[in-house]
Amino acid sequence: MLKIVVCVSGGGTNLQAIMDAIDCGKITNTQILAVISNNPGVKALERAEKYGVPGICMSPKEYASRAEFNEAFTNKMCELSPDLVVLAGFLVKIPEQMVSKFSGRIVNIHPALIPSFCGVGYYGLKVHEKALERGVKVTGATVHFVNEGMDEGPIIAQKAVEVLDGDTPEILQRRVMEQAEWILLPQAIDDIANGRIKLVGNHVRRA
Ligand code: GAR
Repeated sequence: MLKIVVCVSGGGTNLQAIMDAIDCGKITNTQILAVISNNPGVKALERAEKYGVPGICMSPKEYASRAEFNEAFTNKMCELSPDLVVLAGFLVKIPEQMVSKFSGRIVNIHPALIPSFCGVGYYGLKVHEKALERGVKVTGATVHFVNEGMDEGPIIAQKAVEVLDGDTPEILQRRVMEQAEWILLPQAIDDIANGRIKLVGNHVRRA
């Protein structure tokens, strides 16, 4: 059984997609130990409560420094001791000490086709604003393992989504979620839970 902790920051629609996929058997062999949010009072925490998994709030604002938050966050994760950490719309940089303690065991969903529209400053709606500003005709989503870089870890899966005339950032965000994110992330978790993918150096291979 793959034990996961899901980290969130806001709406939690990707968290919902994971919980729904577990319920309907699209993700097997997987159990959610807890949901961690860096923001209090978000919809994602409501979703966790409704589903019956512990929701934990850890905000960097509650700590005297980022270093103290990083240590507390890493300690909490070690205490929970998941097999896999899933960043499902988590907009906080993962501390280096957590990356090394959970090496090859943290995955992230990003709402663009990496290496486009990623890295520092590219998160949430901003990603879609930048894609529309640039005038790309195709965007999408990427699931990848997390390393020390920002959106730089080995890519697990990607799915392209069309950009249409008249799209606003909100419309495009919704299409990318519906057509890519809510499908890719549950699939990747199921693949990991069932030993279908493995990391070979910096590349992900199907086992
Ligand atoms: C999602 O689009 C996710 O890909 C993005 O934040 C949104 C969260 O939505 N993540 C990033 O931008 C990470 N760089 P959700 O809370 O409804 O799942």
